[in-house]
Amino acid sequence: MTETERIDDYILNHIDKESDYLHRLYRATHLHLLYGRMASGHLQGRLLKMFVTMIRPKTILELGTYSGYSGLCLAEGLEEGGMLHTVEVNDEQEDFTLPWFQGSPYADRIKMHIGDAMEVVPRLGLKFDMVFIDADKRCYKDYYDMVFPYVNPGGYILADNTLWDGHVLETPPVRDPQTRGIMEFNDFVAQDERVEKVILPLRDGLTIIRVK
Ligand SMILES: C[S@@+](CC[C@H](N)C(=O)[O-])C[C@H]1O[C@@H](n2cnc3c(N)ncnc32)[C@H](O)[C@@H]1O
Repeated sequence: MTETERIDDYILNHIDKESDYLHRLYRATHLHLLYGRMASGHLQGRLLKMFVTMIRPKTILELGTYSGYSGLCLAEGLEEGGMLHTVEVNDEQEDFTLPWFQGSPYADRIKMHIGDAMEVVPRLGLKFDMVFIDADKRCYKDYYDMVFPYVNPGGYILADNTLWDGHVLETPPVRDPQTRGIMEFNDFVAQDERVEKVILPLRDGLTIIRVK
């Protein structure tokens, strides 16, 4: 085990446990889906739930549902009457993910929407207290611009993978469009005076943005 793996292991042994349900979902994700590592895991899941408990949003929007791991963690933190809207572009994902949502204790707090977030979100006609951006890395800046008018003042936008495995340190010309997308997003948010922001070096980087 490397030093980093030992620290990760230590952290997981000293934080809230992952529920059996989430553990089974995580295993099923890796067994039955391609790109299982896209799913949030134990640490990030507990952090997302903690953020929801701290922020106490009434409405949450998630861009990029995938197998539903992060969605369940976000929904877990919601108070009575709260609602998570989660958007997934891949319609084949619905057959896997929807039963996991419906079989969970949070079924009545989750609405899954199939379609491109850029089209679905404006159609919802809703405002959100918290947004979790975790879809196509090439489009982060577009998601940010699109979603901004739908975030309540004092609301939060969380963006995942914003260090992109350290690739954000590459010097131009950067060929990989995902790295370029993340860099463009980070540079834009850094100079955006409408928001306060901080980047946590958790996993692949998690940016927390507060709309002033
Ligand atoms: C990293 S995975 C999401 C992981 C999930 N949030 C979690 O942490 O467990 C990204 C997902 O975003 C979806 N996606 C990509 N582009 C999208 C778009 N324009 N609108 C909605 N979903 C999109 C992909 O199909 C994929 O399932």
